[in-house]
Amino acid sequence: MSLEVIILAAGKGTRMCSTLPKVLHKIASKTMLGHVIDSARRLKPQKIHVVIGHGAEQVKELFTADDIHFVLQEQQLGTGHAVAAAIPFVESEKVLILYGDVPLIETNTLESLIKFIQPLFLGLLTVNLANPTGYGRIIRNEQGSVIAIVEQKDATEQQKQIKEGNTGILALSTEPLKKWLAKLSNQNAQGEYYLTDIIAMAVNDGFTIATTQPETEMEVQGANDRVQLAQLERYYQLKLAQILMKKGVTLLDPSRFDLRGEVEVGSDIEIDINVILEGKVVIEDGVTIGANCIIKNTTLKEGVIVKPNSHIEGAILEEESDAGPFARIRPGTILHRKAHVGNFVELKNTSLGEYSKVGHLTYLGDTEVGSYCNIGAGTITCNYDGVNKYKTVLGDEVFIGSNNSLVAPVVIGDAATTAAGSTITKDVAPNSLAIGRARQIQKDDWQKPKKN
Ligand code: UD1
Ligand code: CA
Repeated sequence: MSLEVIILAAGKGTRMCSTLPKVLHKIASKTMLGHVIDSARRLKPQKIHVVIGHGAEQVKELFTADDIHFVLQEQQLGTGHAVAAAIPFVESEKVLILYGDVPLIETNTLESLIKFIQPLFLGLLTVNLANPTGYGRIIRNEQGSVIAIVEQKDATEQQKQIKEGNTGILALSTEPLKKWLAKLSNQNAQGEYYLTDIIAMAVNDGFTIATTQPETEMEVQGANDRVQLAQLERYYQLKLAQILMKKGVTLLDPSRFDLRGEVEVGSDIEIDINVILEGKVVIEDGVTIGANCIIKNTTLKEGVIVKPNSHIEGAILEEESDAGPFARIRPGTILHRKAHVGNFVELKNTSLGEYSKVGHLTYLGDTEVGSYCNIGAGTITCNYDGVNKYKTVLGDEVFIGSNNSLVAPVVIGDAATTAAGSTITKDVAPNSLAIGRARQIQKDDWQKPKKN
């Protein structure tokens, strides 16, 4: 039987104190709504309906996939009203109701909930809470069967003692849901159409409410303010860290590691503190990453060493190459096998050949370096004339003296050498020495200036 998902995401999230709609606040660089949509998608639903209201345009712009259908709820008259806005668009027999601000819900929890959908059965996710304040309370009869949900503001003192709370997440058949939604009223403490009221209606129609609970409270925790958002972030990061450790990654301190994207890892990887991985990162066997590195959309092949305080983006570091400390490697850069990049070196769109070294204080942009080259300290490629960018090409075994300016476009042949302090504006022939600097002169009659 086919399934569709309704995600409620119309609320403003006043407590975020933000111009951004609540569901667009992020956990691990992905919007909360994005997390919920991804979890829902793993169930392979026919369609995902997202009920939006506050900041509707901003939300819509970010999710353009074909399986997402937005429903505008102009006025937020309650969770029941929100589901009622989406239900006319549901064509499948089963519906799952989720919340855009409950980002860490797990697909396997949802799967077990959906299994409860049977004739005369519906699935409700509840949670036992030490402090259930604010939550709707699950009311059970003497036999332990759920008979209703009572909202905090409508609850009697006795009902408020109940520790079992409503997560709001619900799986049920479409047809009876339509019928119950049509019967909702707003005669309650908040003057809202409560989705939770359908539980008593279902029981009245002979339904059994099958309940299950999430593995942890955090899975169903909503983020109403930035304090809760940070709690979810830390919980989620620790969980990601644990997954990596179980795969063979040593994290010197899992509480000081952040994954803001996806990482593919090999084994015997060591990651020191305060490392941030972003976008799509691949880390092969035996890689070491020092403290305080940011690595984004990059592949680190076997045995690579990234030393502390390096920033690497859009690059490939091939086998046993190394970079840092304080290396900045920008998009389009490839370090071939055993290449070495030292401190205060910036590389952009540059290929550094096997065994080549750029040890200190250098900028190479749009540069191709062959193998076994040595680039002296303080070398700069002048790759930009203010309008266009030009390439610098070095053959194999080139030696660039310290403090060179290589004015592109320029080609330096195999095994050529440039003298320290040169400004190289013309191509250099293989095996030659190029000296591009004023000759040193000496003035013996020089008078030191005197103080006036
Ligand atoms: C709801 C439940 C409560 C449950 C709690 C869990 C109801 C009546 N109550 O209460 O039993 O314990 O969640 O957090 O369902 N929304 C809309 N449109 C609306 C109203 C709400 O899209 O008209 C969205 C909100 O953006 C939010 C979610 O639905 O994401 C829940 O709404 P909220 O007002 O926070 O419900 P609670 O009072 O917390
Ligand atoms: Ca809430």
